[in-house]
Amino acid sequence: MTKYIVQGGKPLFGEVEISGAKNAAVAIIPAALLVDGVCRIENLPQISDVTMSLKILEHLGAQIRTVNRHTVEIDCTHIHATRTPYELARKIRASYYLIGALLGRFGKAEVTMPGGCNFGVRPIDQHVKGFTTLGAKVVVESGFIYASTESGRLKGAHVYLDVVSVGATMNIMMAAVMAQGNTIIENAAKEPHIVDLANFLNSMGANVRGAGTDTIKIHGVDRLNGGSYAIIPDQIEAGTYMAAVAATGGQILIKNIIPKHMDCITAKLVEMGVEVEENEDTLLVRRTGPLQKTNVKTMPYPGFPTDMQPQITTVLSLAEGTSLVTESVWNNRYRYVDELKRMGASIQVDEKTAVVEGVDHLTGAPIQACDLRAGAALVIAALAAHGESEISHVQYIERGYENIVEKLRALGADIRSVDDLDQQSELGAAYIG
Ligand code: EPU
Repeated sequence: MTKYIVQGGKPLFGEVEISGAKNAAVAIIPAALLVDGVCRIENLPQISDVTMSLKILEHLGAQIRTVNRHTVEIDCTHIHATRTPYELARKIRASYYLIGALLGRFGKAEVTMPGGCNFGVRPIDQHVKGFTTLGAKVVVESGFIYASTESGRLKGAHVYLDVVSVGATMNIMMAAVMAQGNTIIENAAKEPHIVDLANFLNSMGANVRGAGTDTIKIHGVDRLNGGSYAIIPDQIEAGTYMAAVAATGGQILIKNIIPKHMDCITAKLVEMGVEVEENEDTLLVRRTGPLQKTNVKTMPYPGFPTDMQPQITTVLSLAEGTSLVTESVWNNRYRYVDELKRMGASIQVDEKTAVVEGVDHLTGAPIQACDLRAGAALVIAALAAHGESEISHVQYIERGYENIVEKLRALGADIRSVDDLDQQSELGAAYIG
């Protein structure tokens, strides 16, 4: 276990290269289960959620060859099991994609109830609704989800999602690509990683149309073949570095991004007085003057992403005036606010709304990450604060940010990772994932 020690108050300058998208990678790896052949996946981020996803596939019988730091070849031709290992699968939220993938390929799946960051109730009823509409029987028993079909193959159908769900959209897509006949998913989520999964599946021989709109049409095929695919850059990692330079001041060039994916984040930062210059696959982000207040409401894509809410709230805690932040996707995603308050932030949370009264500066403190994006927000706060901060429980951050310490150090930040002996003794079985 490690913790980060940060000496704050230094503006960031330099260049940072964005890694592959976590939330695309954790869906595309299980989707490889659908492929009868070798699929080569490039631009995989080196993060613990990806390592865990690959381990689970290996456990199911996949042969995995590491080509280089960001490329693997996965061969699922000889998968021998449809039951996931309990301890591994419960540690990540994205293990729910194993249900859609196994069900799609073998008509049967036994998957651990998923883990993931703890910010309120995280139901999977819409996933289950999709699978049952496609003809599966789904039962939850003893910590496992058992899904099966009588004939061994799902049947295409019309699925209407009651809530816009990223996970349900992708899971149903995976289940449907090899179903018999046509499937239509209505009220589908439109996030960039949904388009990425559709592109991956299509490059392996699937027939998925309309991803990125709210209606996705899938024509079931008999088999997916091997192929090669590169994952898109991570919108949220890029947004986190934008928020970091907004908070500290300075100027950074963010490389390997898709500017269109960044529009929802760029728009808010520009309202706050941050300058953003867009090029083909880079963003130059500069903050020289004071930050202005603004209001932010999280929404499904193309709205402002919930996965950027803790980071933007942290930046707003340093803006002139009072801002309102409304979290409309998750019901308990403000647990980090108490940590920001230790650093001198003035934020009042009332259910889904945070009233953020900007302060002149934050001060360094011992603080604890409680989930992935909350942890990223605390790193931003510590970089901007006067004095030293010690951030513990950084394993949450490393679930989703590749080499965050090295990338920030290259931008001139004074941050280092050291052993956390206190946490080692307190940890044991307390992994929330
Ligand atoms: N919901 C339901 N029923 C369902 C599924 C979702 O009511 O069956 C509700 C949820 O409770 C939530 C809303 O629908 O209120 C949206 O949930 P969604 O299914 O879209 O979330 P998810 O697929 O579980 C993914 C990301 C999250 C990200 C959300 C929203 C992965 C592995 N996780 O979660 O990412 O916050 O979409 O964009 O892709 C993160 O990266 O830090 C992270 C938490």
